[in-house]
Amino acid sequence: MTKKITAPEIRARKGGPKISMVTAYDYPGAVIADDAGLDIILIGDSVANVVHGMETTLEIGMDEIVMHTRAVARAKPDALVVADMPWLSFHLSPEETVRNAGRLIAEGGAEAVKLEGGRKRLPMIQAILDAEIPVMGHVGLTPQSVHAMGGFTVQGKMVAAAKEMIGDAKALSDVGCFSIVLEGVPDVLGEIITKEVDAPTIGIGAGPSTDGQVLVFHDVLGLGSGRYPKFVRSYASLAEDATDALRRFKADIEAGAFPGDEESYHLSDDVTSELLKGTKSA
Ligand code: KIV
Repeated sequence: MTKKITAPEIRARKGGPKISMVTAYDYPGAVIADDAGLDIILIGDSVANVVHGMETTLEIGMDEIVMHTRAVARAKPDALVVADMPWLSFHLSPEETVRNAGRLIAEGGAEAVKLEGGRKRLPMIQAILDAEIPVMGHVGLTPQSVHAMGGFTVQGKMVAAAKEMIGDAKALSDVGCFSIVLEGVPDVLGEIITKEVDAPTIGIGAGPSTDGQVLVFHDVLGLGSGRYPKFVRSYASLAEDATDALRRFKADIEAGAFPGDEESYHLSDDVTSELLKGTKSA
């Protein structure tokens, strides 16, 4: 029998059983992820790319993330439900940040929020924590900083940048983040940060030493464009399966093979013959 997973339980998993996290953006995705026993479901702002077909995550806003979070929360998963804070929802003031985080909890049904950035974001993180909302940090390749980073490139490859990231991760852990996503960093740096910080780290393209791993739903299931980053492992080819299924559906329609007798509703013989009287079908 499974039971609801909470943010403090994830915090206590440091160095323990590896934490599994996957994104989901809707009700069926949440049901599938929860049936598979994942620990955390993240309503990532990657929904911008994989569901809405946007170029960057900068184009998605609070209303859309709230809507996707509500769809996921309706599945009532045992997994911890974490909602991503979209770009500009946590940059302007602590008040606005808390209001936006609060919307994800109260309207969306999330149980924690995630936001990108290091020490620069500490006042906002502190304000959210003061409102009793658990926060997941996110450092390394932070897609909301795509223009500042000059592209989606692996981060922390030089000593100064790596040290800066270690300092950021320590600060997020010390302020009280219950876990920290490490994205797009060399494996050695993933290992160093994991050893340096008290909060569990959850890696995506950060090597095998982190306390947990996360991937995007559509990437794990092969439901995307087919061009996946190096760090992705696809465990299914659902896009190919879906295209093949729809091709066969179309062929059956065109051949008159769908629907068959077993997929049709029927009338009793009496009603049928009465109805046919005087019609062209008689
Ligand atoms: O939005 C997202 O999917 C994420 C994960 C990559 C961690 O932030």
